[in-house]
Amino acid sequence: MTPLRVALAGCGAVGSAFLDIVDERNRQGLDRPIDVVRVLVRDPARDRGVPLPGDRFTDDVDAFLDTPAEVVVEAVGGIEPMLTVARRSLDRGRDWVTANKALVAEHGPDLALLARRSGAGFGTEATVAAGVPVVSTIRHALADTGIGAIRGILNGTTNYMISALEGGQPWEAALHDARAKGFAEADPSRDLEGLDAADKIRVLAWLAFGIDPAALIVDRRPVPVAPRSLLDDAARRGCALRQVAEVRRVAGRLQAVVAPTFVPAGSALHGTRFEHNLVEIDTRQAGLLRFSGPGAGGRATASALLADLLRRHPAPEDRGLEAPRSTRGAWRWAVGFDG
Ligand code: NDP
Ligand code: HSE
Repeated sequence: MTPLRVALAGCGAVGSAFLDIVDERNRQGLDRPIDVVRVLVRDPARDRGVPLPGDRFTDDVDAFLDTPAEVVVEAVGGIEPMLTVARRSLDRGRDWVTANKALVAEHGPDLALLARRSGAGFGTEATVAAGVPVVSTIRHALADTGIGAIRGILNGTTNYMISALEGGQPWEAALHDARAKGFAEADPSRDLEGLDAADKIRVLAWLAFGIDPAALIVDRRPVPVAPRSLLDDAARRGCALRQVAEVRRVAGRLQAVVAPTFVPAGSALHGTRFEHNLVEIDTRQAGLLRFSGPGAGGRATASALLADLLRRHPAPEDRGLEAPRSTRGAWRWAVGFDG
């Protein structure tokens, strides 16, 4: 079977986990193999201990773009140079699958339009809640359910650090662990100051309400450094501290907020701990829906990237099916890919 050629941008926590998962999948030999033909990084000489020969790594954007591939998977982050790489890839009709919520929150609609014009796919499942499939659920399964509000815990690093502090760990040690486990952004102030959660709520608002995510104003309040006194205060009131993100319709307008919040004991928000995320969606037709699971980490995120990729390039036996015939097919069909 001809391998599916993938160009991967980024080989950090997410990119290296993606290579591991692809390698495991290829070894099983059950499906069309995936060949990661090129990897874009800053330092191509570094030994990364990943299952790919060193000569596939480059820091040259042009060489990366000139390598023939059907799909580009992005796990770098930030706006530039990834905006340029995304535009040039999509212009060439290559599918673009990304974990980069900052880029999608700023330029998602433009990139989606570019993808539509060139016939390429544009996969964004990994941008919110890592492996928890909320993006495709909102985009496809909940399109006509009358979404009124989306709220939840959308940042694994902050939640991990608050849980660690609740367990008696010092704040700095919790930050060290969150970075070592591959949860934190390259600049962790994006996690703690709510920028990362704000990007995610903007992506969800785009999908749920069709607005321009870059135009959504998010009232954003940082989690204070070492918030021990807030934790104690919350506990005295029978609550816990969580960083909660929300967007809701109010009188025909959208209001969005990311803020440290006291959540009552026994609530789903209270029960969401460490790197887990929770997404609650209020719908007119289907009532309150909840999705939860690991919201940060290389493997969880890489699984969403792979799901997006396979949605666009299913195994030959799954092509053209209107309904899944196998569990594996069902998993594929359940994930989303816009394009
Ligand atoms: P890392 O910092 O671990 O890895 C980033 C990778 O990008 C590195 O391999 C780095 O190269 C490469 N890189 C950085 N800048 C450039 C550049 N200018 N040109 C070429 N390569 C570059 O990040 P993560 O893997 O944690 O995250 C990647 C993306 O996934 C981000 O958008 C993040 O928000 C998103 N994400 C992350 C999750 C997580 O749990 N970690 C979860 C969901 C999404 P080098 O190795 O040489 O330094
Ligand atoms: N830094 C992010 C988080 C990664 O902690 O949630 C997942 O998007």
